[in-house]
Order: sequence, then C-alpha cells, then structure tokens
Amino acid sequence: MQILVVDHPLVAHKLTTLRDERTDSPTFRRLTEELVTLLAYEATRDVRTGPISVTTPVAEAEGIKLTSPKPLVVPILRAGLGMLEGMTRLLPTAEVGFLGMIRNEETLNASTYAERLPEDLHGRQCYVLDPMLATGGTLAAAIQFLVDRGADHITAICILAAPEGVERIERELADLDIPCTLVIAGMDSHLNDKGYIVPGLGDAGDRLYG
Ligand code: PRP
Repeated sequence: MQILVVDHPLVAHKLTTLRDERTDSPTFRRLTEELVTLLAYEATRDVRTGPISVTTPVAEAEGIKLTSPKPLVVPILRAGLGMLEGMTRLLPTAEVGFLGMIRNEETLNASTYAERLPEDLHGRQCYVLDPMLATGGTLAAAIQFLVDRGADHITAICILAAPEGVERIERELADLDIPCTLVIAGMDSHLNDKGYIVPGLGDAGDRLYG
C-alpha cells in the first residue's frame, strides 16, 4: 500500500482546528468538507482519464476527460458521510455507494450493518472515505469487501491514521495485487488503551453528528 501524507499548510491549519476540543459541530462539519476537498485533490491524481479535443473560440485544443466506468466513492457510515460533500465537490460525476460499519468499543472488532454498493465492481476505481484509521479493522474490512466485488484500484482517504492501524492493513492486505493508496492529513503517535488515536481529534462520528 502506498501512503501519502498530504503536507500543506492549509491542511495542517484545518486539521489543527478539527483537533481542538472547543470546535463545535457546525464548524467541525464545514472544516471536514474543506479538508477532504484538499485531500481529494491529491488522492485523484491517478483518476482514469482519456484524451478529448475541444474547440475554443480560437482553435482546437487537446484535453482530457474522465473515462468510463465512473469512479465509485464509498463513505463508511457514519463518520465517512461527513467527508462525502468535500469529495463530490471535486468528482461530481462519481457514483456513490455506502458501507455502514461499526466498531465494537469493547472488542474493537468492526462489523458491517449496511451495504448499498453496485454488485459488480470490475474495472472500477474506488475511493473509500473514513476520517479515522485507528486499529485498521474497519478500513481493512471495507477494502476487502470492495476487492471481493472486483474493484481493481482503491484509494482510501482518511483524516488521521495511527501507525498500528496502517501496519495492520499492510499485513492483512499484503497479498492484494491491485493498486491501493492511503491518503491522510496526518499520522499520529499511537493508540491508547481504548483504541483511540493519540492525540487524534476524539470520536469523529460524535463530533460530526452529536
Ligand atoms: C470510527 C471511525 C472508523 C472506525 C475506526 O467509526 O469512523 O470507521 O471507528 O476504527 P478502527 O480503525 O479501529 O476500525 P465508529 O465505529 O465509531 O462508527 P461511526 O462512524 O458510526 O461513529
């Protein structure tokens, strides 16, 4: 898995405000969208395109357009929903599918409670959205789900990751033979004994949706 930590002052500034416990929910939601748009700019560098020519008022110009099939954006409910608007602002023609996953706060195991995705993902580029990559159980399961449906190119966009979670994903998906990239705004220090990212930003789902 390729890992890209987006190093940009605007990303760092918005992330700092997200971390601040004094940031209220409306501000947290708005900043999450803005931050995801910046991450999405980097995450879509390898979105599939093909050549096209257009006529300007002056002459013919060579350009590119997104090719079929459309990219699929997959927010992981609930917290990933807060990232959707920021992503589709850059990729308005993308199709959107949903995965509902919850982490048991005792066992830290992730389970899937809802799924609304195309049956066949062969030939599809998928962008998975989830703000927190903690133990990595949720994201590893989500990626495996998409791969089992046939996805052949996966980019996960997270706001924060813990080294333990990244290591777990690299271990569990070591045999993956498709391109897989993780784009994050920051790699934090570690997980605490409750499986929270330290210093992190708290429970993203709660801070987005109360
Ligand atoms: C959080 C977060 C990730 C997951 C990360 O969701 O948004 O989905 O936990 O943990 P992991 O890497 O240890 O699996 P949560 O289960 O709290 O659900 P929510 O989005 O509905 O709040």
